[in-house]
Amino acid sequence: MIRLDRNAAEPLHQQLYRQIRDELVSASVNDSTSRLPSSRMLAADLGISRLTVNLAFVAQPLPEAYLSARKPKLDRQLEHPVRLSNRVWDIPDKRVGRDFDLGIAGAPGVSFVPAVTALDEFPIEIWERLRAEVLAKKGAHLLQYASSRGDPDLRKAIAAYSCDYRGARCHPDQIIITAGTQQAMMIAATALVNRGEVAWIEDPGFYQARRAFLFAGATVVPRPIDREGIVIAHRSKQAPPKIIYVTPSHQFPLGMTMSLARRAALIDFARERDAYIFEDDHNSEFRFTGPPLPCLQGLDNSGRVIYAGTMSKILYPSLRIGYLLAPEQLVDPMIKIRAVMDQHSPAIDQATLARFMTEGHFLSHIKRMRKLYSDRRDFFVEQFNSLLKKHFVLQIPEAGLHFVAWLRRKADLPIIMRVCADVGIRPSPLSSCYMKEPLQPALTFGFAAWTRAQIREGLMKFASALEAKLK
Ligand SMILES: Cc1ncc(COP(=O)(O)O)c(C=O)c1O
Repeated sequence: MIRLDRNAAEPLHQQLYRQIRDELVSASVNDSTSRLPSSRMLAADLGISRLTVNLAFVAQPLPEAYLSARKPKLDRQLEHPVRLSNRVWDIPDKRVGRDFDLGIAGAPGVSFVPAVTALDEFPIEIWERLRAEVLAKKGAHLLQYASSRGDPDLRKAIAAYSCDYRGARCHPDQIIITAGTQQAMMIAATALVNRGEVAWIEDPGFYQARRAFLFAGATVVPRPIDREGIVIAHRSKQAPPKIIYVTPSHQFPLGMTMSLARRAALIDFARERDAYIFEDDHNSEFRFTGPPLPCLQGLDNSGRVIYAGTMSKILYPSLRIGYLLAPEQLVDPMIKIRAVMDQHSPAIDQATLARFMTEGHFLSHIKRMRKLYSDRRDFFVEQFNSLLKKHFVLQIPEAGLHFVAWLRRKADLPIIMRVCADVGIRPSPLSSCYMKEPLQPALTFGFAAWTRAQIREGLMKFASALEAKLK
């Protein structure tokens, strides 16, 4: 019987390896009917992750002699341990097997998952018509390997949009089409950060940023957030950052807008320390109060800001199209990296998007969605506060498609999470966005994907189930 001691100095995977090896030696699993349990069963029985189980046997495979002499029927993974790279072990992602199948949004239904948008409002007929037209016009040309820089018409349209509506300063040659912000982060990190060099990320922050920078080999250093944005460590004794990931228009997940003073200070800091700023402008189109603020890139005279935009929130995330607006000196190195990664994004989608933008559908879609989201947002706030005020304080930011709801009583968190699972909603715990411990528990609720009736029904179900459990 395996017993793991979480307080012991010996790592869990080593305890596991040692005890299984000892059991094999003492022949307690050697008859023809007994077999080593699968890594999934071991993980479940012992309350540890499958990674820990796999690590036990990847780091040190069971000696052949134990196995062949006694012929235990081993789980495939234990028989042929895969020598994965440390990079894989370092990815902070606990999902296994079927957990990956539904993507980030999870199962359909009123889930309040923060990243989900109103995809049923996407003008599919217009998109399909434009797609058919570009195919008819350009034909087989669009089926060829395409430019790693991106479709020229699309880059021109994005440059014009970024200058006119986001206050950026750029030339179309500075635009590189990417497979979303995710790939943009990988490209930027790969271009700038050697293994072990430092990337600052906001804490709390975008968990995909943490994964991408770690995977690219950076030492990820969490930086706290105050009311003005990321806190700059001017006098830190630690190694200075090579890259600083920020979300100035709408801090993810807390939602504040970076102040003008902090923007200027951040650019000065980057210039002095020879660092680059990665500006993730993921949600700037969905700002509901206050004047629109130009992006950080537009304030930068020193070529220190790498700006990333995405179509995931405006259009739809499975399109996997985003863009980098790179300082001139980084354009060629970044295109070189894209060419190594996967050459380019699908040419037909890029050409369709270029037409969608140049013919005005893009701007009118943004306008229409902003109005729809504004209405859903107001309704969500009203309903949430009338039904759930007793348990949560809702924070209302100026922009974005989710809300942070702070628990009034810390101790309620486990019950609240159980109730969420029981009623089938999946607001995400704020703690999943922190690298260091959060001070207060909170949940983030998406509101954009659901109609008023669905929002009301979902919140009422949640509130009445909570009432029953938290009397
Ligand atoms: C902070 C942040 N940045 C960027 C994105 C979009 O990422 P991608 O373009 O890779 O879909 C999201 C999506 O949820 C996000 O929350």
